[in-house]
Amino acid sequence: IKHLFGLRGVSKHDIRLILDHAKQFREILERPVKKVPSLRGMTVVNLFFENSTRTRTSFELAEKRLSADTVNFASSNSSVKKGETLVDTLRNIEAMKIDIVVVRHKGTGVPKFLADNSNAIIVNAGDGAHEHPTQALLDMLTIEEKLGTLEGKNVTIIGDIRHSRVARSNLWGMSTMGAHVTLCGPSTLVPRNTDLMNHVTWEPDVKKAVANADAIIALRLQKERMDDALLPSMREYRNTFGITEELLECAKDKVIIMHPGPINRGVELDSDIADGEHSVILDQVTNGVAVRMAVLFLLAGGRNNENA
Ligand code: CP
Repeated sequence: IKHLFGLRGVSKHDIRLILDHAKQFREILERPVKKVPSLRGMTVVNLFFENSTRTRTSFELAEKRLSADTVNFASSNSSVKKGETLVDTLRNIEAMKIDIVVVRHKGTGVPKFLADNSNAIIVNAGDGAHEHPTQALLDMLTIEEKLGTLEGKNVTIIGDIRHSRVARSNLWGMSTMGAHVTLCGPSTLVPRNTDLMNHVTWEPDVKKAVANADAIIALRLQKERMDDALLPSMREYRNTFGITEELLECAKDKVIIMHPGPINRGVELDSDIADGEHSVILDQVTNGVAVRMAVLFLLAGGRNNENA
């Protein structure tokens, strides 16, 4: 693959290749010297039109660990505010001789649109409610690290599925890798895409949804993408779908708890669970750097990997 737009349609072979490279980079991240020369001489622009803490920082660190030159672009202090279009923004940045663009945008399909209008390698860092492929890859890496394999594992995703690019990328990627995905959440926040729903089990009863799970992924309510009419009260949501000690009594003893962040503590996830023995949330964040190193390395052609 030349670009990474999403995990829908990406083969098991290609996901395996990314995860195996990420495992090698994960080991490098434990060394005193964490830098490898793989992307030396290449320039990566992080083009973020939406807010981000984990993804932007993680991509920047991954680029630096690979010895790339990195430039961070935030739309809030750019000429986008003066009316410059997306394509003009990209073409001007490209004229400065860059190689890879990592883009986050509220519009579904923006990474593909940019790839159609430039010669750069494009990596999707989240496009609207469509896909967030590197988040799903780091989630898959974390499950393999903690549970050994994805094959045959039951993964339950609870929350605002309808507006979640994380849920979409995870269900495409995990089902390709042989995991079984169950979705659970308020009936108003079920995805409308029936094709997508054909690949998963929908379980409205949260106790049943967690009973067989090897991994539970909690998602926040994405107010920024939702009509107020769809938004449940926070108290009602926590009482019905929140991950609490009481709910975990219905789950397996060794279940792992995941969250892509940012967490709304006390809504989708109680603090004692987020910080408790089942939580692998900060492992996900660490794995994010390794996964992004692997994606950038492979898209750049897998050159100069003598130290990987
Ligand atoms: N998981 C994730 O995408 O977090 P950020 O929005 O902070 O990048």
